[in-house]
Amino acid sequence: MNGFNSIAIDGPAGAGKSSLARRLSKELGYIYVDTGAIYRSVGLAAHRRGLDTKNEIAVSAMLPEISIEMRYNDEGEQRMFLDGEDVSAEIRMPEISICASNVSAMPAVRAYLLEMQRRMARTHNVIMDGRDIGTVVLPDAELKIFLTASAAARAQRRLLELQGKSVKADYDEVLRDKQDTSRAAAPLKAAEDAVRVDTSDIDFEQSAALLRSIVRERLGV
Ligand code: DC
Repeated sequence: MNGFNSIAIDGPAGAGKSSLARRLSKELGYIYVDTGAIYRSVGLAAHRRGLDTKNEIAVSAMLPEISIEMRYNDEGEQRMFLDGEDVSAEIRMPEISICASNVSAMPAVRAYLLEMQRRMARTHNVIMDGRDIGTVVLPDAELKIFLTASAAARAQRRLLELQGKSVKADYDEVLRDKQDTSRAAAPLKAAEDAVRVDTSDIDFEQSAALLRSIVRERLGV
């Protein structure tokens, strides 16, 4: 209710959230906020310090000592900075995924990052993707989408797209989704008022067109 529109997209890893959100944000001229990147930055910080990323006391003690910033470059692309250093590429390393999932289960980490996410939505039209955007971060979002795809469809896409990804990476993703869904703090789940979109049987272009039509219908843009 601040003059800006917010669109929340939640769902498991590998459902296609980020590519679809990026496409939609370009079409609408909204800012795309990838909240997973913020958790990844905290995960990377803990990993670099050699901390056990499941140790809540150690990770909480680290938070006041680090600086995490989200900046947008001239192309409107989100970059993550850890203590002033651009870590946008490093946070994508496979071993950082599980570190991010581990630290994201901690209430102290979630509280630390909440305001940064909300601030973006107060000052811009945003499409924000994550796990708890519709339920916790932006409960008043104008539109909430819960994006899923069957495990079989996600595995099939990985086989086709990500030649470099190993069976281990596949297993890690399943493990991470299980962890993100079963945790006590802001678990991955659909908001009651979310529109559920299952992309198992449709391709990227069809999924993008479907989301675009939902936005048009719900927001009139
Ligand atoms: O979207 P991603 O795979 O980059 O996210 C990395 C991890 O961050 C994911 O395993 C769970 C966590 N996460 C979260 O808890 N809440 C969010 N809104 C976004 C990500």
